[in-house]
Amino acid sequence: MTDHLVLFMPSGKRGRFPSGTPILDAARQLGVYIESVCGGRGICGRCQIDTQFGQFAKHGITSTQENISEFGAKEIRYAEKRDLKAGRRLSCSALIMGDLVVDIPQDNIINAQVVRKDADTRYIERNPAIQMCYVEVEEPDMHKPLGDIDRLLSALENDWDISSIVIDTHILAQAQSILRKGKWAVTAAIHHDKATQSAHLIALYPGLKNEAYGIACDIGSTTIALHLSSLLSGSTLASSGTSNPQIRFGEDLMSRVSYVMMNPEGREAMTEAVREALNTLIQNVCDQSGIDRNDILDSVFVGNPVMHHLFLGIDPTELGGAPFALAVSGAVNVKASEIGINLNQGARTYMLPCIAGHVGADAAAATLTEGPHRQDDMMLMIDVGTNAEIVLGNQTRTVAASSPTGPAFEGAETSCGQRAAPGAIERIRIDPETLEPRYRIIGTELWSDEDGFEEAASETGITGICGSGIIEIIAEMYLSGIISEDGVINGDLAARSDRIFSDGRTFSYLIKDGEPKIVVTQNDVRAIQLAKAALYAGIKLLMDKQNITSVDKIGLAGAFGSFIDPKYAMVLGLVPDCDIEHVKAVGNAAGTGARMALLNRNHRREIEQAVQNIEKIETALEPDFQGHFVNAMAFPNKVDPFPKLGTIVKLPERSDPAISENTSEGATPRRRGGRRRAR
Ligand code: FES
Repeated sequence: MTDHLVLFMPSGKRGRFPSGTPILDAARQLGVYIESVCGGRGICGRCQIDTQFGQFAKHGITSTQENISEFGAKEIRYAEKRDLKAGRRLSCSALIMGDLVVDIPQDNIINAQVVRKDADTRYIERNPAIQMCYVEVEEPDMHKPLGDIDRLLSALENDWDISSIVIDTHILAQAQSILRKGKWAVTAAIHHDKATQSAHLIALYPGLKNEAYGIACDIGSTTIALHLSSLLSGSTLASSGTSNPQIRFGEDLMSRVSYVMMNPEGREAMTEAVREALNTLIQNVCDQSGIDRNDILDSVFVGNPVMHHLFLGIDPTELGGAPFALAVSGAVNVKASEIGINLNQGARTYMLPCIAGHVGADAAAATLTEGPHRQDDMMLMIDVGTNAEIVLGNQTRTVAASSPTGPAFEGAETSCGQRAAPGAIERIRIDPETLEPRYRIIGTELWSDEDGFEEAASETGITGICGSGIIEIIAEMYLSGIISEDGVINGDLAARSDRIFSDGRTFSYLIKDGEPKIVVTQNDVRAIQLAKAALYAGIKLLMDKQNITSVDKIGLAGAFGSFIDPKYAMVLGLVPDCDIEHVKAVGNAAGTGARMALLNRNHRREIEQAVQNIEKIETALEPDFQGHFVNAMAFPNKVDPFPKLGTIVKLPERSDPAISENTSEGATPRRRGGRRRAR
């Protein structure tokens, strides 16, 4: 008799199996991940599957009810005790009797937790580093003087095929009482450690422990975001965020490095501050979801190199100057308790590798999420912050760099700049005829020329301009002819509109009079030019390395990337010309990458390998950086064409390159390190 063809969805993996093979075994043989805690005893319910019946001509399969065994004793018993949805089967019990199409459901929530619907609900295939293994251990016997733990280990080897298990010290003291409490049935939490190629027994529970949790966290220099997930179902149960308390030691990364250099206790103080904030966030997510922090067994953290070092308790001083040496660039595996994170006593922590001295584990996580290294298209990924992290590549070759853009895009360094908060101008349009602005502020959907705006805005006031706002304002000023392609505010327009006014030796543009008065000064334009030129020059260096003149896709990561309008980013020349359809905000790609690494250890191996293959470019050492920088001072760029942008926006005529050459003279990129004095 020929074997039966079984297709597993959504992975699409397929194979042939003899009649009578349990579906769980077939999945295992094909490398399709189906959770199992009870080892096929029919008590955990984690191995549920759905079947699809019908003719699947494309796959050459006719899947029928007769092709799967009838409900077995284990399934009947489970369905009586627990709720088994109609159509669901336990794959450890159901047998293959003919050709089948099997669905692995994505909602196998056993303990009926409330599942948080995040903006990012991407499906992550599971294969967590923690494996929950239920075993029934032989009771002690005077004639076989094997220790309780030794019999536990042999049960794990027999039932789960896990050998050479290393036992965490704290388990040694607890094991006997747990075994007796569970009446010789226990669930062992095994952590599979790639570094030592070994399995560690990190937690032990009496009876069947049918749940285990993990946290994934992105430690940003401004904000920290943390998610609690079930390691067994993959669902996100709670999320929490806070501002990074290290801000009190310095707004940007370099001022925090300076703080460490100037203050002997500085490193300890910042490490303690971030760990304390993380422990509070962990308590928040536990409270939100009603979960005991002792049930959290794994954790993944990402962050830029300075955040990464300070979190691990490493002095970041070396990152403050060339050659920007990381203490450790590879992935880090430690016990959470060793770095002051309060979870289960045996819980582990994994940190993704850093790409380079200024391109951190957050960029690695974003790379894992967006996967330039997995695709044919040449993808540019940018995380704009005070230090922009840039990755450019496809499956053939990936390069990365960072560019010191400074805090101008975060609302600092400009006269009316502020953080994104209610009252900040975030959108603006300027009438090219009258030069009159209309704008929107954070906190109301109304535009400033619409009825009801005054009233809506009176709650917060109109307080300043946030990062995405400043980008639109400068781009609109350029499109309406208020500033030239070299960024000079045209004083001749003062004769046409009161909004252009003399401000000492230069001119400014008035957006809103009154208190506070909101203007864009010549210095503001210059600050944005310097920031965007630094970013674009970094991108150009990477494009040179790839030998390309255009990119297929652009992903804008981070909070800033989520709010900025891709069209204006291109008008400004922040990013290269690209089909606007293919420029998108990729949200918190770093946080998603952390979740991927939490829920599937294969993703850890994938990014470790990818990072090894990424070529790192140090912008400061590249002779072409200055030339690219000077060209990028112009809007959108002095030499690079923007034909795709030209199809959606009418760009002003370019002036004589010889003239623009003079006005860009003396433009110098900012340098990393020592830029700010410590506070
Ligand atoms: Fe536990 Fe099937 S593996 S019920």
